[in-house]
Amino acid sequence: SVSSAFDFASNLFPLSSTAAGYTALGGPAHATLDPSAALAGASLEKHKSLTFLNGLSLVVGLIIGSGIFSSPAQVNTNAGSPGASLIVWAVAGILAWTGAASYAELGGAIPLNGGAQVYLSKIFGEWAGFLFTWCAVCVLKPGSAAIIAIIFGEYVVRAVVGAEAQEVNTWINKGVALAGLILVTLLNCVSTKLGTRSANVFMFLKFAALLGVTVIGIVVAATGYSYTGKASGDWKAGWFEGTSSDLSQWAVALYAGLWAFDGWDNVNYVAGEFINPTRDLPRVIHTSLPLVIISYLACNVAYFFVLPLAVIDSSNTVAVAFGQQVFGRIGSLLLALAVSGSCFGALNATTFTSGRLVYAAGREGYLPRVFGQIGVGSATPLRLGSGTAPRAGKLARLLGDDDAGLFFTPIYAMVLNASLTGAYILVGEFSTLLTFYGVAGYTFYFFTVLGLIVLRVKEPGLERPYRTWITTPIVFCCVSLFLLSRAVFAQPLQTLVVVAFVLAGVPVYFWRVKKKERRRGEKGPGWRFWR
Ligand code: ARG
Repeated sequence: SVSSAFDFASNLFPLSSTAAGYTALGGPAHATLDPSAALAGASLEKHKSLTFLNGLSLVVGLIIGSGIFSSPAQVNTNAGSPGASLIVWAVAGILAWTGAASYAELGGAIPLNGGAQVYLSKIFGEWAGFLFTWCAVCVLKPGSAAIIAIIFGEYVVRAVVGAEAQEVNTWINKGVALAGLILVTLLNCVSTKLGTRSANVFMFLKFAALLGVTVIGIVVAATGYSYTGKASGDWKAGWFEGTSSDLSQWAVALYAGLWAFDGWDNVNYVAGEFINPTRDLPRVIHTSLPLVIISYLACNVAYFFVLPLAVIDSSNTVAVAFGQQVFGRIGSLLLALAVSGSCFGALNATTFTSGRLVYAAGREGYLPRVFGQIGVGSATPLRLGSGTAPRAGKLARLLGDDDAGLFFTPIYAMVLNASLTGAYILVGEFSTLLTFYGVAGYTFYFFTVLGLIVLRVKEPGLERPYRTWITTPIVFCCVSLFLLSRAVFAQPLQTLVVVAFVLAGVPVYFWRVKKKERRRGEKGPGWRFWR
């Protein structure tokens, strides 16, 4: 099953558009990332192209997304006071930092693509990797896409109606979220290049929005300027007034903060690609995470200085309220457009990677074969220009894949992912989805980082290009265990649904994987803890 994990990984990015996908994730356009080469180990050499700064922009770009513009309300209302909220943001950031450092060690020790799926398979057995993939396909990927789409919808609606309009019917927000999801899915079915070409624009938008909020906040705090003339500092008497004493509420606040830092698990994308990994990988992690933590804290302080607490607490679109408060309608419009652009970009990147994940699961036999199929039926892909001939004009340059063609994408996988995402958008709402996603995500983060400790004990001699301080995974495991245990009390329904999804994966494992092994006459790894 080690080789099976291997196949899985090599199936993960089978298309010619790997480098494009990487760019979609926020990577520098010139960087080449070919996971199948990374798999081969030796051939990695010629692909090592990342410098410190490339890695930094990649990690920061992966992490910053919708969260810092949407989570503050949930952090605030649950933590109870501005001071407590800032503590939650700091703790969430530090947790992400310890997680990223731990994943970096795993990525170095097990230099295969596939992330947690591969680490769990190699450390605990294929069943663990299978359950992760199962949950990623059913919950994690569509769940995160649904959250991003909902925020996209709310910001687009706010761009149209303005910050001060009455509460908009949730079905209008959801409708726009669905429209965005369908558009992104169509784009990704037609061609992989279309979306990835615009990735850098989206990246610019989110940095502009984040930096804009922070700088404006500082200026407003220093000068007391306010477009609307409304006083906002009424609460400043007590930073900690109203702090919640309920641990479960703190846990819910933490899940909301963690969403904004999520994406740190993708640190491994950069691990094998550095020209000088032993020097630069730790440097990237220990620079990017503190950088994101500081900018999120600054951004929150800016919200607190500019906006009345009641406004922050009641809005998923805090950035729009912020723009309104400082520059009126123009400000709210600009921020609404920037944040919805940033969300659209994030949705596009998630759709791209989810499509590949579902596709890889289909190829591996984890899911029905049809999901591991490229294109529709046996139709040949529509070509706009041949791989070697000069490109057939502008349209081909915009849409075409180098050796593939239009619709040469994992369409069925994409449709499955979009259907699940759509279902979550319809039944869920932002705050419940955050906890739902957090519980499922941190269950697997916990076991993966626990795997690091297990690996240290079982294979102390294994080569580890990057070795994290052993306290790091221990802190991570303790805090995430606290989070998971409180979730049961804080939001029992979401927790129950997550547990049900994980357990539902067990019979599927026997059906899809064990059956396949029996047919092949192979002996699987069984249920032993360690192989
Ligand atoms: N931190 C991002 C945000 O604030 C979410 C990243 C989603 N996670 C992921 N692995 N795609 O929107």
